[in-house]
Amino acid sequence: MRQPEPEPQSFDRVLSSMCTEPHPAARAAAERFLATNPGDPATYEAVAELEARAVEGLATLAEHPTPADATGYVTSGGTEANIQAVRSARNRHGESDDTSGERDVNVVAPASAHFSFTKAAALLDVELRTVPVDDEYRADPDAVAAAVDDGTALVVAVAGSTEHGRVDPIPELAAIADEAGARVHVDAAWGGFVLPFTDRDWSFADAPVDTVTIDPHKFGQAPVPAGGLLAREDAALDALAVDTPYLESRSQATLTGTRSGAGVAGAVAAMDALWPDGYREAAERAADNADWLAAELADRGYDVVDPELPLVVAAVPESEFAALRDAGWKASRTGTGALRVVCMPHVTRATLRAFLDDLDGIRR
Ligand SMILES: Cc1ncc(COP(=O)(O)O)c(C=O)c1O
Repeated sequence: MRQPEPEPQSFDRVLSSMCTEPHPAARAAAERFLATNPGDPATYEAVAELEARAVEGLATLAEHPTPADATGYVTSGGTEANIQAVRSARNRHGESDDTSGERDVNVVAPASAHFSFTKAAALLDVELRTVPVDDEYRADPDAVAAAVDDGTALVVAVAGSTEHGRVDPIPELAAIADEAGARVHVDAAWGGFVLPFTDRDWSFADAPVDTVTIDPHKFGQAPVPAGGLLAREDAALDALAVDTPYLESRSQATLTGTRSGAGVAGAVAAMDALWPDGYREAAERAADNADWLAAELADRGYDVVDPELPLVVAAVPESEFAALRDAGWKASRTGTGALRVVCMPHVTRATLRAFLDDLDGIRR
């Protein structure tokens, strides 16, 4: 029997996702490059060239000192980029030639770090030392300093945390890492397309950061899958490379083999269309929306976490949250049960007004 054509969800009521509607130019570019594989650059040369442009574009956003010399690649998402950052730091720790991962190494990360680091640690047989955050949900430098030791390969800092949208004190964490002989990774998977329009210290220019995760398929308005791993220097990627005997390109540093040319082309098209003015406008609108929503929720008596980046967290009771879900709002909660609204480009003021109207109806 013929089934009706499946339709994806509309973004009208999507309030907590870190993905958004792709820019039209990115959508079109993704479709053109659907059947290409940047994992085989000697065959798919056009998309390989586009990937170099994607890396340069991402490096420009992340303020690499010479973006044209930056290294990195378009990953399947922030998870892969974070796994690879841990893998690179592990392989380089102590600068031994041994890339087997047979050493006792640890990674120090704040409790606010994304759960992809738990996956990375499990896959790579690395100890993950999770340290508490401060009262403002940012990494606590004292706790990080207490946790690092000779075996610390990597200190993770978050620039735009998943639950609270917080930016860690990255220069301070980098200084601690340097003293311990560890490398520094900044996870700006979500924040990386908003932070260039703030005065926060998060980039290659602000601290001796080794690697950065920055995902076009989040605030970058590129189609899924398009994450990004950047490294300050080639050695970080060299530490990931394996020989590829049957390909004309001789080695591969990526985690997956065949990769999405659509993701690469979409990322480049989105950045071409939106960097910098379009992204600035989106970031400013999102910040205004977050401030407005936070004030509206506070006026209604909810305990609200002051937004740093465009992400609002409010202690909405369980029963109200459940009623909002029943009303079709695709919202999610933090680990402690608070409502979490991510003001992505598709989340307009009209959407937020409709959301508050429903919330007011539920409270009556
Ligand atoms: C800060 C951060 N890092 C990493 C990730 C993982 O990204 P992905 O879901 O693209 O693998 C997320 C996802 O929301 C995130 O917020």
